[in-house]
Amino acid sequence: MFVVFFYFNRYFFLLESAEDFTGDGIVVSELDRLRASCLYEISNCDSLRRLDMLKNVLFGKSGKITEMMKKLPTLKDEQKRTLGAEINALKNEVTQKINAKFEELEMKELDKKLASEFIDVSMPPRPCNFGKIHPITKVEEEISDIFSSYGFKFADGPDIENEYFNFTVMNMPDHHPARTMHDTFYVHRLADENGRKLLRTHTSTVQMHAMRAYTPPFRFFSFGRVYRSDYDATHTPMFNQIEGIIVDEGVGFAHLKWLMSDFLKKFFEAKDLRIRFRPSFFPFTEPSAEIDVAYEIRGGKMMLGTGNNWLEVVGCGVIHPNVLEHGKTDRSKYQGIAFGFGVERLTSLKYGIPDLRGYFESGERWINAFGFSHSAK
Ligand code: DAH
Repeated sequence: MFVVFFYFNRYFFLLESAEDFTGDGIVVSELDRLRASCLYEISNCDSLRRLDMLKNVLFGKSGKITEMMKKLPTLKDEQKRTLGAEINALKNEVTQKINAKFEELEMKELDKKLASEFIDVSMPPRPCNFGKIHPITKVEEEISDIFSSYGFKFADGPDIENEYFNFTVMNMPDHHPARTMHDTFYVHRLADENGRKLLRTHTSTVQMHAMRAYTPPFRFFSFGRVYRSDYDATHTPMFNQIEGIIVDEGVGFAHLKWLMSDFLKKFFEAKDLRIRFRPSFFPFTEPSAEIDVAYEIRGGKMMLGTGNNWLEVVGCGVIHPNVLEHGKTDRSKYQGIAFGFGVERLTSLKYGIPDLRGYFESGERWINAFGFSHSAK
């Protein structure tokens, strides 16, 4: 109510200024006064709402300038000509000034809005104290960073596989003795031409999915859950593996050796990390090797990378030609190298986490002891 009254009071002066605008009573000085007060009001107007009201007072249905225009026909010819031109000029000038003012005020309002809605994207985030990052997630991020820096891309495969993908194409045909070593969880009721369904026992299956989906040269890494029917302090029925594969012309064991050494040094943040390649057997690689990391116990603590005790951490090798063939890769042109390791094993070694079972029991005390805060890098 108050606001309306205020505005009326404010423009009362305008209404007054041209009060004696009737037929013969119009004098040019009267128009000058109206013009001056219009321009004054417009230039002092500081809000869109006020400007709108002012516009209405002047150009509304019974606005001041509208009224003048309406009365023009009642004037004598001579007056009509001179005053008509004056009033028209006034009308045009005031309209133009009002429009310019509208633009100016709209810009100001926009600037104000932008300023009030400004988000400082450079501000550091507030520390988040809700929960902790699981060590497996942390290590997967670290490993992803390292393999990405070698130009590897991420590849994935399903947790539920079948005998064909988990074994046959990985050079473990029916009745191969290695099949039984995997302690596989089978879904006996679900079987088709690809054999029984099963929970994948290793992420090496991703090698096959990648080979069939992409043409070489390529390099991929993958991580995910694998399942084996086993449970004690060093075995859990579900655990995580990282898998890597390079298929290219002329890749061989030398590349694998450099890659694994460099990776382990980076991962354990130890330039002088002592490792050894030990000949081994995997059906899907030939030759195959396992990599051990040296350790010693000093003052009751396990020191990694020095000493004469060895811990196995990686399985790797040159991809078997049968596997390349199953992967529809031209084995006369391309060779491949591959590697796989258990994420929990690497994590336990790097961060001193003792019992594997803790990883999957969702204990609050465990995660508070071994989890990482969100701000840690
Ligand atoms: N799949 C093997 C396992 O589960 C690990 C492994 C060994 C992966 C050698 C590889 C490899 O890619 O070349 O024990």
